[in-house]
Amino acid sequence: MTRILKTVADTRQALEPIRKGTKVLGRIVGGRIPVSAKHRLALVPTMGALHDGHRELIRLAREHADNVIVSLYVNPLQFAPDEDFEKYPRPVEQDLAMLEEEGVEFCFMPADEEMYPEHEEVTIVSAGEAGRILEGEFRPTHFDGVLTVVAKLFNIIDPDVACFGEKDAQQLALVRRMVDDLDFPLEILAAPVVREADGLARSSRNTYLQGEDRAAALSLSKALSAVEAKAGEGVTVALAAGKEIYEHEALASMDYLELVDAASFAPISEGFQGEALALTAARIGTTRLIDNRRVQLGA
Ligand code: PAF
Repeated sequence: MTRILKTVADTRQALEPIRKGTKVLGRIVGGRIPVSAKHRLALVPTMGALHDGHRELIRLAREHADNVIVSLYVNPLQFAPDEDFEKYPRPVEQDLAMLEEEGVEFCFMPADEEMYPEHEEVTIVSAGEAGRILEGEFRPTHFDGVLTVVAKLFNIIDPDVACFGEKDAQQLALVRRMVDDLDFPLEILAAPVVREADGLARSSRNTYLQGEDRAAALSLSKALSAVEAKAGEGVTVALAAGKEIYEHEALASMDYLELVDAASFAPISEGFQGEALALTAARIGTTRLIDNRRVQLGA
């Protein structure tokens, strides 16, 4: 049975035995010292509306820890006033059923007043310049909001491991950097993008896609495939091939399609050889989607 925790105090109290507990793995035999290991706790931070991508994160968490806690919290701080905070799907019963099915021990489900009690100003973790490129150019306050809530979750839950999806590649890179920069004592694990049979990356926002928009949403994965197919011909040709896909889809409006160094997220120029990350975002009607793919550039 998944135990639902709604306050910071209850969560700390419920997790205390796990945080402190040691699990004896060996016995004293012939004078040997007992082998013991800390009981490991994994966190899967989510905004709910769980899908198979989250299921993979939960399973990854389970492989690396004795206990799993999933947070379900639609974080207002990472939405701009004109974005979809109010309409973001919140199918709580369905989400809790998935957590039960996956044998998740704990669910942290705080209210806004618990996460952001009425202060005049909230302390923000800044993603800096790296948070203002790509997604950050279109959602300037988004990554500061993400890092702030993720830092709070790390402090409240104190996990040994936290799992994030590669679909949010820039988020993943920024969380990893925050963990290094702010010395959070935990390991970040990543799970690959989970796709529908036709290639659409799984996203909680896919539930917004109705009628022709569903077909048009394939333009993101098709654009990435086009980039991949032409990667051997260099950055300019590859990006032009991807952008052409968007030009032929009237219902899609591209925000960006870029190639960056897969390790550093630094922009790459013509002549770059090696592994790059193709990242894209587009609006399909009022739904904004993102996707990415690793591609090999050069010979
Ligand atoms: O990826 C998400 O769902 C959110 O950005 C996260 C990491 C749960 C923070 O709200």
